[in-house]
Amino acid sequence: MTERADLIERIIEQASAYLTDPPRGDDPVISLASPAELVETFSASVGLDFANTASAHADDDLLAAVEKVIEYSMHTSHPRFVNQNFAGPDPISVVGDWLGAALNTTGATFEVAPVFTMMETAVLSKLGRFAGYVDSDDDNSASAHLPTLPPGLFCAGGSMGTLFALQLARHRHQPDVTTAGSNGDRLAMFVSDSGHYAASKSAALLGIGTAGVIKVASDHGGAMIPEALDAAIDQAIADGKTPFAVIGTSGTTVTSAFDDLNALADICEARNLWLHVDGCYGGSALFSESEAHRLAGVERSDSFVWNLHKMMGMTQQCTALLVKKPEQLAACFAARADYLFQSDKLNAEYDSGDRTFQCARRIDVLKLWLTWKARGDEGFAERIDHAVAMGDHTRARIGASNGAFTSLVSGDFTNEVFAWVPPHLRPLQLDDPSSLRDEVHAELHACPPRIKARMQADGSGMIGYQPIHGLNTFRMICMSTTLQTEDVDALLDAIDAAGMEAYA
Ligand SMILES: Cc1ncc(COP(=O)(O)O)c(C=O)c1O
Repeated sequence: MTERADLIERIIEQASAYLTDPPRGDDPVISLASPAELVETFSASVGLDFANTASAHADDDLLAAVEKVIEYSMHTSHPRFVNQNFAGPDPISVVGDWLGAALNTTGATFEVAPVFTMMETAVLSKLGRFAGYVDSDDDNSASAHLPTLPPGLFCAGGSMGTLFALQLARHRHQPDVTTAGSNGDRLAMFVSDSGHYAASKSAALLGIGTAGVIKVASDHGGAMIPEALDAAIDQAIADGKTPFAVIGTSGTTVTSAFDDLNALADICEARNLWLHVDGCYGGSALFSESEAHRLAGVERSDSFVWNLHKMMGMTQQCTALLVKKPEQLAACFAARADYLFQSDKLNAEYDSGDRTFQCARRIDVLKLWLTWKARGDEGFAERIDHAVAMGDHTRARIGASNGAFTSLVSGDFTNEVFAWVPPHLRPLQLDDPSSLRDEVHAELHACPPRIKARMQADGSGMIGYQPIHGLNTFRMICMSTTLQTEDVDALLDAIDAAGMEAYA
């Protein structure tokens, strides 16, 4: 019998009860506690911190501590958690993750991950077909789709995938960069000014420098303006820089905008630049017949990062880096450690570890494989269609709010960026915040943080805000499967109630 089997069993019971019946409705999304209160809360059981000498604790104390962990954590499965572009997980993904953890191994070599290596090949091949990187032939048998070299690999998150993709791009530009280091070119890469900061962080790490990241203007909705990209490339060349890569974003973090990938691909092909697609958020639109058009042209890109832990409800993290030419991965990353990747062992050709930067690699594929097999393509498509329907409902509710809310960026996907308007300022047109009078701008700008803090305190909802065109506005992200029309209504009512209270 496993040591402390009773403790393990009882923690599983607590986790399972949470998983099958998480907080909902009028339950608080968060039980807000200050850092000091959190420390105090745990002092009744095992203590949060560790003394210099830290002894083992009894089962009952540990179980009491686990209860507090659950009580004070953010309830991301709650329908009123719309704070970020992830939410509560698909329960099947949770148990898949748990099973993977129980089997604790690394995806680096076939010998220690025989099943997971084959699963990774199968899932990447299917994702590659969605992205148009891998041909979909007429043979619908699964084995017809198992290539020896999968079109990418799973990696530890979207920022990491962006970093690896840009290293591939730099390697294509200068093939001896991995041995000789930079040849002195002042490299330039391009991303829209609505793109994710992973581009700048990657440039900093790769030695390109953030000065090499050129932010291209986006339109009001947040999509890159292709003509501005062309002009920015010309300007970079005139400034003595060497363009090497463009990042197109499919689903921007704030407004869920989609760049026109065909227009970007035309420019990249004409100028021989690497086209990377950041599909971390919106890549999952490919699962839906009615939404896939948003990524038209993705098949013309060179690399594509897709976070399945965002719209698809996988536990964090679950990120696929897809590459058009998979052989570039080994050319760029291989270090040939002979204690691990012996070429004369069984099935050495299936080892994936030398095709990436990481050594140990979580087997994130298992939870995705299990969930996909359980839900089918149709279940995955439903998730996306439901999210867009909730986005549409939000837009309709805001439009019918008699001026209590007004949209700043009203897209047609999952995100809506809007303001709550104090009664004395209604009705308010918000297309261009820079045209607002200074005192109106200041008053509106102060609303979201005040309202959010009230909602955190009473647990009535968790919604993000950010400055857009200089003005703090709410961002509603409709991507959780638990979110229904009545929850959207309740959330908007909670914002209105908190606003009225704050301004009464
Ligand atoms: C558009 C976009 N790209 C990249 C990322 C980074 O992904 P990760 O958080 O997995 O590093 C995010 C995260 O929110 C994102 O929204």
